[in-house]
Amino acid sequence: MDYEFEIEHFQTLDSTSSYLQRSLQSRSGSLDSGIWHVCSADFQTAGRGQRGNSWTSGAGENLLFSILFHPCEIPASGQFVLTEIFSLAMVDFFSQQGVEVLIKWPNDIYAGSRKICGMLFENSLSDGLVSTSIVGIGVNLNQTDFGTSIANPTSLAIETGKVADRNQSLSELLVMLRARYENFANGTVSRAALHTEYLSKLFRYGEFHKFQKLAAGPDPLNVSYANSTFENVFEARISNVKENGLLVLENREGREIEFAFKEVKFLL
Ligand code: BTN
Repeated sequence: MDYEFEIEHFQTLDSTSSYLQRSLQSRSGSLDSGIWHVCSADFQTAGRGQRGNSWTSGAGENLLFSILFHPCEIPASGQFVLTEIFSLAMVDFFSQQGVEVLIKWPNDIYAGSRKICGMLFENSLSDGLVSTSIVGIGVNLNQTDFGTSIANPTSLAIETGKVADRNQSLSELLVMLRARYENFANGTVSRAALHTEYLSKLFRYGEFHKFQKLAAGPDPLNVSYANSTFENVFEARISNVKENGLLVLENREGREIEFAFKEVKFLL
């Protein structure tokens, strides 16, 4: 199957996602739904991560790219499906390279307990639908020395012991992402099937672990941690992820609470 991509590559850019945000403004929001606009860079001077964090990456070592597209009819309330589609395609990619990975809710890709890929979803909404989506993806491909600035990273090269071809990896990855997306858009794969598959690839699904409630979150689940030196640390297991993306945590007494992304943190 041939998919249409328009690819721009830069040696240095502030951020591939910021570049596509600017290009969307200059296109006045009009996009052909058959084309994915891809921007990649060897190096970013202002790479952006989730929760307002920065994303740093060695020059010319990894994959730094963003995709701008006009999705099929996806209600704003169901936009989490894009997270599921892209996360599962990343699992496909690493699995094809012989590396088993899992999805740390909502969309970090982990090899063991180390992060190998991060994604940033920036959707714009109009009339209750997702009108445009910019998905920024940072894949740790060939970097082996991360210094101390990044917490628990790994890379494809660390996991396989081999250096990967960046151009070939990007081409293969784009096709995998697009194939996953088109299977959903044309109805070959249902929303429910995607959700079941997403849960089956979820890091720490169903096992008891420690979590930390962040300032914005609801009350902690487990008061037995009241004596802990960690404030608002509690033990729970992931019992579900709602279709709107909320994480459902259940404590040992079977009480469930839903958390949004900014409300809870995994303790690794
Ligand atoms: C995360 O915090 O895990 C998300 C990281 C997303 C990084 C990628 S790198 C390419 C694109 N451009 C950016 O500025 N961010 C994303």
